[in-house]
Amino acid sequence: DWSPAAVIGAQVERIREAVGERGRAICALSGGVDSAVAAALVHQAIGERQTCIFVDTGLLRDGERERVEDWFKNRLRLNLRTVAAGDRFLERLQGVIDPELKRRLIGHLFIEIFEEEARRIGGAEFLVQGTLYPDVIESVSVRGPSAVIKTHHNVGGLPERLNLRLLEPLRELFKDEVRAVGRELGLPEELLGRHPFPGPGLAVRIIGEVTEERVRILRAADRILEEEIRRAGLYDELWQAFAVLLPVSTVGVMGDERTYERVLAVRAVTSVDGMTADWARLPHEVLAEISRRLVAEVRGINRVVYDISSKPPSTIEWE
Ligand code: XMP
Repeated sequence: DWSPAAVIGAQVERIREAVGERGRAICALSGGVDSAVAAALVHQAIGERQTCIFVDTGLLRDGERERVEDWFKNRLRLNLRTVAAGDRFLERLQGVIDPELKRRLIGHLFIEIFEEEARRIGGAEFLVQGTLYPDVIESVSVRGPSAVIKTHHNVGGLPERLNLRLLEPLRELFKDEVRAVGRELGLPEELLGRHPFPGPGLAVRIIGEVTEERVRILRAADRILEEEIRRAGLYDELWQAFAVLLPVSTVGVMGDERTYERVLAVRAVTSVDGMTADWARLPHEVLAEISRRLVAEVRGINRVVYDISSKPPSTIEWE
C-alpha cells in the first residue's frame, strides 16, 4: 500500500545505500516544492553530508531569500548556503530582449555559479534532483508543448561536468504524492501549496530589457497581487496568479498631474498540469482592488490590464 511514510522509509534506505557511510551530496534548492522535498528526504538519510545551495538571482519574489533561509536553515535545519548573485545576473542580462536568449543566459549563469559553489564545497559525489515521474516520462516520450516551446530552466549537463552521480528520490512520484511526502517530512504547508514559479524568475515577466528598476516595480506588484489573491481566498483555486511588466508607457492622471508610466498586466489561470490553462474568471471586485492597490502603491505604474487568454493558443508565462 502507498503511504508517505512507506515511501520515505524506502527512499531513505536507498539513499543511504547509494551514498554510503561517508559520501556527500549537493543540492540546488529553488524554493519550489520538488527540490525542497528531495532535499528534505536526502537530509533524513544523510543529514549534514548534504549541502544545499540556494542562488539568489536577484530575480526572485519579495522576501524569497529570507523565506527560504527561514524554512530550510532555521526550521528544517538543512545545511544551506545562499549565494547572492543579483549583480551578476543583471549584468549578464543587460540589453537582452529576446525571451529565449534571456532564458539561456540565466540558465548558463546559474550553472556557472552552481559549479563554482560545488567546487568550493568540494568532495561531493552526488547531485540531488527533484525529478518527478512525469518529468521522467516526458523526457523519454513526447515532450509537453511548453518544454519544446520554451527552454526550461534546469541543471542539465551538470552531473557530467562535475562528475556527479544523480540522486533522484522523487522519480516514481506524482506531484500530489510529493506534497504528501513533504507534509510527512514536516515541510511548511505554505511551501507545499505554492504556485509554480519559473526558474528564470521575474526576468521572463519583464517584457523587454531587465533592469534593476523594473525588477523593483515587478517585485512590488507581485507581492500586492499575491496578498489580494490570498485575501480573497482564491490562492488555492488558481494554478498561478502573477504580474507582467510591459514595455509600454501610457498617459494617466494622478491628482492634477499628468503621468506617463508603465502598464502592468495581471495574469491568473486555472490548470490541472500547466499543459493547458484557462484564464481565471476573477470576481470584478477582486480585480478592482488589485488594480487600485497596484497603481496607488507601486511607483511607475499607472494602468493595469487583465490577460484574458487561454493556453493554447497563448502560454501561461508571457516569455
Ligand atoms: P508556459 O508559459 O510554458 O508555462 O505555459 C507552463 C508552466 O511552466 C512554468 N514555467 C517554468 N517552470 N522553469 C520552470 O521550472 C521554467 O523555465 C519555466 N518556464 C515556465 C510556468 O510558470 C507554468 O506554470
